[in-house]
Amino acid sequence: MKACEALSSAQTGATMQVLLVLALLVACRAAARNLSFPQGFMFGAGTAAYQVEGAWNTSGKGESIWDRLTHARLSSDPSAETADVAADSYHRYREDVLAAKNLGLDFYRFSISWPRILPKGDLSFVNPDGINYYNNLINELKRNNIEPLVTMYHWDLPQHLQDLGGLASDIIIDYFEDYARLLFTHFGDRVKWWTTFNEPLSFVTGYSSAWFAPGVDAPGVGGYLVAHNILKAHARVYHLYRQHFRGEQKGKVSITLNLNYPQPKTSSPADHDATERYLQFNLGWFAHPIYSSEGDYPAIMKERIANNSRAEGLPRSRLPEFGEHWVKYIRGTHDFYGMNIYSSYYVSAPNTSETSSGISFANDMGPVLLEQDPSWPAGSISNFRYAPFGLRKMLKWVSDNYHGVPVLVTENGWVDRGEMNDSMRIRYLVNHYAALLDAVHLDHVTVLGHSVWSLIDTFEWGSYENKYGLYRVDYKDPRRARQARASAEVLAAITRTRRLPEQYLDQE
Ligand code: NOJ
Repeated sequence: MKACEALSSAQTGATMQVLLVLALLVACRAAARNLSFPQGFMFGAGTAAYQVEGAWNTSGKGESIWDRLTHARLSSDPSAETADVAADSYHRYREDVLAAKNLGLDFYRFSISWPRILPKGDLSFVNPDGINYYNNLINELKRNNIEPLVTMYHWDLPQHLQDLGGLASDIIIDYFEDYARLLFTHFGDRVKWWTTFNEPLSFVTGYSSAWFAPGVDAPGVGGYLVAHNILKAHARVYHLYRQHFRGEQKGKVSITLNLNYPQPKTSSPADHDATERYLQFNLGWFAHPIYSSEGDYPAIMKERIANNSRAEGLPRSRLPEFGEHWVKYIRGTHDFYGMNIYSSYYVSAPNTSETSSGISFANDMGPVLLEQDPSWPAGSISNFRYAPFGLRKMLKWVSDNYHGVPVLVTENGWVDRGEMNDSMRIRYLVNHYAALLDAVHLDHVTVLGHSVWSLIDTFEWGSYENKYGLYRVDYKDPRRARQARASAEVLAAITRTRRLPEQYLDQE
């Protein structure tokens, strides 16, 4: 750029010249940034079964732990909301596929409802209507050249399996393998992208909080048991696919893990240590056994939980041990890394030696202070602020720590109260794509694609108040009409040109 070269010799005496120089500086920065998506990059958007399907008890579907939880809430609070109908995607899936097509998406990420396929969770009855529904959805996607990316477990465990002990019992490993085999058998000829579990860090809270299904009160114990079993179940399913299906079906299997990027607040060793502890407890817990070269839980977790358990007078650590066989069996069970990320935090070590009492995950992790910069624009829920730098840094952290594993961003999106002219969602998406492209072009991270959360508005695990959808769902309309928000138009233009429009980029 000639103008950029001339910039260095520009005379800046007069006001006009100063303004011109500033404008040129901005233009030069934008020109320097590579805004093109790499060859083969996959654009997607997602939903999950319980959040959109509705039809909770029709066509043979069994009850899930989320049906049970939301109905229990409703019985004591008439204003509580459920996903009994939600966006009614069970009947209106064609409209979802049309929305994905209008956006020019390469893939649609959705989950399969385990109790819709297996009403009791086990193989005692395979529900033909459930199989038909997902066949229809997958076929409709394929007809429109959209790849299905399927999550096997997005939190809606069959209630019957919960009654037998649920994810805290190791019976789940066999049942999950049976379920996965059925999915590969029925859908694997057309589905090439699978993830086993979505966000274990989120669903383990069902064992320490009444807010989250199944609402079991076992802090500092239940979550570790659940994580242990789902890591084994994940590995079983990975090996099952590798041994019996991959040769013919040629697909990929992995897991989706979530964390908002934790950045040390200062360069002090204390803040660095706190951040590392936070990362290992919240991400390494699941990622280290699968993606690291040593396998197993992070050493810092094993050590701290064993020490606390000893001090509590327990005969063994509350964190179960894998043993050598399982460490080897789980290690390497991935074909990519599924990343969910929405925001960032500053992490520091609090200036106090005070600790809260009681057995809990938080006490095992030890004191950390999480803060967000109040100048970061806020979404409609707490701890949700706009900080796109975190996406680039998180991608780099995962790539650096886990041998350059290819990453698929499986969730990323903006939450608001449902504006149709959703300019903040546009800003969020364009600048997160830009951060992703910086990770690709400047940090050399392999990023396979990105999935916006969410394709349409969804039931946000308790209410419909907060919206992520590129498409609005009119919940007052019995037809649940879908309507494109302004962000949908911008995304359609991006998928068409495979390049980011400069007009929405933040000027740093
Ligand atoms: C996490 C979950 O996977 C999804 O179900 C949820 O709606 C979004 N992120 C937003 O909270």
